Amino acid sequence: MALLEVRGLCARHGAVPVLHDVSFHVGRGEIVALLGGNGAGKTTVARCVSGLHRPSSGEVTLDGRDITRCDPRRIVRWGLSHVSEGRRVFPSLTVEENLTLGAYLDGRRTHVVAERREGVYRTFPRLAERRTQRAGSMSGGEQQMLVIGRGLMSAPALLVLDEPSAGLAPASVAALGEDIAAIRAGGTAVLLIEQHLQLALRLADRLVVLRDGHVILSGSTEEVAADPRIGRMYFGDGDSPDRVVPETRQAHSSPS
Ligand SMILES: Nc1ncnc2c1ncn2[C@@H]1O[C@H](COP(=O)(O)OP(=O)(O)O)[C@@H](O)[C@H]1O
Ligand SMILES: [Mg+2]
Repeated sequence: MALLEVRGLCARHGAVPVLHDVSFHVGRGEIVALLGGNGAGKTTVARCVSGLHRPSSGEVTLDGRDITRCDPRRIVRWGLSHVSEGRRVFPSLTVEENLTLGAYLDGRRTHVVAERREGVYRTFPRLAERRTQRAGSMSGGEQQMLVIGRGLMSAPALLVLDEPSAGLAPASVAALGEDIAAIRAGGTAVLLIEQHLQLALRLADRLVVLRDGHVILSGSTEEVAADPRIGRMYFGDGDSPDRVVPETRQAHSSPS
């Protein structure tokens, strides 16, 4: 049984349909990349699986349990942690305080929270060095590391990362890739939502490509990468991924 199973998901924003019959799954300990350009529907998928947006039809199961219309806090308890796009740290709080907030559902079990924090510090020693620093004073790459660390504080079986590379410098993207690989090596599955094709190709076991709310390609990374349609369908006619990725990033970037 898959860890996350999304079947026939349809969703609207107001009257506008934005997801059409989206199906894919994430196995235990797997990295699955959900790729697509701006407006493809990636964030809406993330919000549907984490209970923040109610789909109009379709089904989402986590570890065999139907979570389609569950309260987001219950979904967190059952093992799904969603790191939303935009790297939202609490800027005036320290690194340690930001991490602690990631375990708010376990807030009273202080020893559990402390153990989880130490686990995050082992995965991200840079955060340990900066535990008393205010989050707002860190670089974009460090803030991304912090929000991922905060996402790990609920001890998820599945981490959903919405465009973690957006706006990061190439060196920070490389470091992010190593961090995500380390998280998977620790047994946590990752749904990696990205526009950065190279990062996805490097990390993912399987790829799912969304365009205009439809899954247009999915399969093992090797299969999808070899499909000549990927450049055309994902990036628009006539563009090759290598040429288009940096421009796509620029158009989408936020300060790092
Ligand atoms: N809150 C919203 N209200 C209305 N339309 C929205 C809202 N959020 C997203 N959309 C629309 O839904 C579509 C998918 O958006 P989104 O899921 O954010 O895509 P992505 O994350 O791939 O950029 C887009 O056409 C976008 O304009
Ligand atoms: Mg998005």
